[in-house]
Amino acid sequence: MLRAMTEALFDLANPLDAVGRWMAAAAAASPQDASRVALATSTSDGRPSVRYVLAKVVDSRGVCFFTSYESRKARELDANPFAALAFHWWETGGQVRLEGRVERLSSEESDAYFASRPRGSRIGAWASPQSQVISDRDVLEARIREVEARFSGDVPRPETWGGYRLVPDTIELWQDRVSRLHDRALYTRDGDRWRCVRLAP
Ligand SMILES: Cc1cc2nc3c(=O)[nH]c(=O)nc-3n(C[C@H](O)[C@H](O)[C@H](O)COP(=O)(O)O)c2cc1C
Repeated sequence: MLRAMTEALFDLANPLDAVGRWMAAAAAASPQDASRVALATSTSDGRPSVRYVLAKVVDSRGVCFFTSYESRKARELDANPFAALAFHWWETGGQVRLEGRVERLSSEESDAYFASRPRGSRIGAWASPQSQVISDRDVLEARIREVEARFSGDVPRPETWGGYRLVPDTIELWQDRVSRLHDRALYTRDGDRWRCVRLAP
């Protein structure tokens, strides 16, 4: 376990840069797990739900993930665009929490990512009515056969599938330390700047 992070948590100009670096450090040890992130959404009357997604892009604007625009999470985001993300990387002992507004990526950004996916995943995006009740697996397999026959060559992106970016207004960088005396840096967006305070563990 690479317990000690090499960089400081506090008073960074843009904590999102640190999120990208922490993810890259974790990916060096365990590439499959590094981009896994819990995404919490909620209904307009405040009932939360949470599930894992993969963070495919972390840049200075926010964290991007891809999904069906007809899924439960998408319906909740339509009703309430505020959401939260939580990463944890066992290898480095880091946790990052982000909260903010979620916006859809442009169709160009979603097209570019969709085109990079393996064919089977692109077929699946057409075939799976994500979050809907289906009677059995045969329904899914029949739909996959239909989509494969329909798109023998290129598989375009369904309009009902694409990316979102969570644009954080708060970010907490948390670093595991001995005796549970962890470091916690809470960043709050203030115009173009980020303000940083230390929280007790
Ligand atoms: C490790 C992991 C990564 C996942 N990544 C994604 C993802 O990037 N996009 C996605 O739509 N679902 C992903 N899923 C499935 C979701 O957890 C979830 O089942 C699905 O998105 C439907 O959620 P919803 O009904 O709340 O919308 C992932 C599941 C796991 C366990």
